[in-house]
Amino acid sequence: MAIAILAAGKGTRLKSKHPKVLHEVGGRPLLAHVIAAATRVVPPGDVFAIIGHEADRVRAAVASSGIGFVLQSEQRGTGHALMVARPALAAYDVIIVLSGDAPLITPQTIEKLRDFHTSRKAAMTLLTAELENPTGYGRVLRKKAGSDDVKAIVEQKNLSLAQQKIHEINAGFYAFEARSLFSYIDKLSADNHHGEFYLTDMAAILGKAKQRVVAVQAANPHEVLGGNTRADLSEIDRHMRLAKCQQLMAEGVTILFPDTCVIDSDVEVGPDTTIEPFVQLRGNTRVGSDTRIGSYSVIINCEIGDQALVQTGCVLEHSTIKDRASMGPYSHLRPGCEICEEAHVGNFVELKKSRLGKGSKANHLTYLGDSEIGEKVNVGAGTITCNYDGVSKHKTIIEDGVFVGSDSILIAPLRIGRGAYIAAATAVTEDVPPDSLALGRARQIVKEGWAKEKRERAKAQKAK
Ligand code: UD1
Ligand code: CA
Repeated sequence: MAIAILAAGKGTRLKSKHPKVLHEVGGRPLLAHVIAAATRVVPPGDVFAIIGHEADRVRAAVASSGIGFVLQSEQRGTGHALMVARPALAAYDVIIVLSGDAPLITPQTIEKLRDFHTSRKAAMTLLTAELENPTGYGRVLRKKAGSDDVKAIVEQKNLSLAQQKIHEINAGFYAFEARSLFSYIDKLSADNHHGEFYLTDMAAILGKAKQRVVAVQAANPHEVLGGNTRADLSEIDRHMRLAKCQQLMAEGVTILFPDTCVIDSDVEVGPDTTIEPFVQLRGNTRVGSDTRIGSYSVIINCEIGDQALVQTGCVLEHSTIKDRASMGPYSHLRPGCEICEEAHVGNFVELKKSRLGKGSKANHLTYLGDSEIGEKVNVGAGTITCNYDGVSKHKTIIEDGVFVGSDSILIAPLRIGRGAYIAAATAVTEDVPPDSLALGRARQIVKEGWAKEKRERAKAQKAK
C-alpha cells in the first residue's frame, strides 16, 4: 500500500505568498501533520507527497520525514496530480490519497478507510463526514440512502438546489485499487468550471465502468476539516490545541482554562505540572513534573526540569531550566541559556548565551550576556555585562561564590575569581583575583549644611 498526499496547490483562497501546505496549525505546517499520520500507517518510503507550487520550499520543510516526492509542475487539479504520480504509484496494490491541507486526520481513520476498502473489495472508497455546514465541500451522492455504494461526488459549484441540502461531504481522502485507478484515470476531463481534472469525478467514471465505489464515514467529523481559508485554519488550529490540552490533562497535567493556552503538538509536559491561563508552550518544549508555568509566559523550544517555577510573563527561548530553578515574573531568556538547579532569575532580568550555576541568583533588573556564572553567585540589582564593544562579543566569567554588588558594570572580557566581592556601582574593567574586593567608583564627598544653606539663600531671594 502507498499513501499519496496532495500538496501541490497554491492555496489561492489563503491570499498568501507562502504555499498553502506550509501554513501552520498546532505549531507545525499542515503537511507535516498529514505526513506524521501517514507514516504511522506505512513506512516513509511508501509515502509520496505530490508537490508543485513552491516545490523546493515545501520539500525542504518536510524532507527530514524521509518520504518520497513527486513533482506536479503545473497544477491542473487533484485528478491531474495522480496522473503525474502514476510512475511512482502504479506498482502498488492499494493507494490511499490524503489531502495535504487536512491535518486533523488520524492514523486510526486512515486504517479504517483501508480496512473498509479491502472488506468491500471496492475500486474506490471515499471517506465522508456529516458536517453541519457543508458549504465549500464536494457532496456525496449515495446510490440509495443507507447504502455503502456511491453514485457520484458533486463539487460545490455544480450542486443543484436539491443537492445543496446534502450534508454528507467528500473529505478528500480516498482508497483506490491502483489497477482500477490507472485503467480509468485518463477518462477524467477538464471540462468544468475551473478547467481542472477533478479526482472526485473518478467516482462516477468507475461507477459507469461497473467498478464498485463505496463510502465510509469518519468517526469524528472534525478530522476531515480542510484549511482552504484563514478562517478554516483558525478553526483547525483551535481543534488541535484543545486536543493537545486534553491529551496532556489525560496524562496528569493540570491546565487552568485550557481554551486560553496555546500548546504546540510536539510539546511534552510531565504529570502534576500546572499550566496557568494564557500560557504558550511552543516548538519542542519539554516541561518536567511538579513544575508551574505562570500566566502569559511564552516558552519556545525550552527544556524545563522538575519542580521548577516560571512565574507570570516570562519569555524563554531555546534554553534549559533545570530542576527547582525559578524564573520571573517577567524574565527573558534569549537563546542559549542554562539556568542550573535552584538558581533564581527575577523580574526584568535578561540573559543571553549564559549559564547561571546551581543556586545562583540574578533577581532584579539585570543583563547577563555571553557569561559563565558559577555556583552560589549573587548578582545584585541592576548589574550588567558589557559584552559587546560595537564589533565583537566578549565573555564574562564569574566563579563560584562571587558577590556582585548592585549596579555594577562588568566590562568584558573579564574573569572574577572565586569568592571575590564587587562593591556596588563598580565599573569592573580588569580581572578580579579570587577572594578579593574590587571597588571602582568615585569617593563620596559630603558637604555638611549645604542643603540648608541653599534653602535659606532661596528664601532670602524671595523676600527681596
Ligand atoms: C477537494 C475536493 C472536494 C472535497 C475537499 C475536501 C476535488 C476536486 N474536490 O476540494 O470534493 O470536499 O477537497 O477538503 O478534489 N492539489 C494538488 N494539485 C492540484 C490541485 C490541488 O496537489 O493540481 C492539492 C492541494 O494542494 C490540496 C488538495 O490537493 O492539498 C485539495 O485541493 P483543494 O484545492 O484544496 O480542493 P478543495 O477545493 O478543498
Ligand atoms: Ca482543500
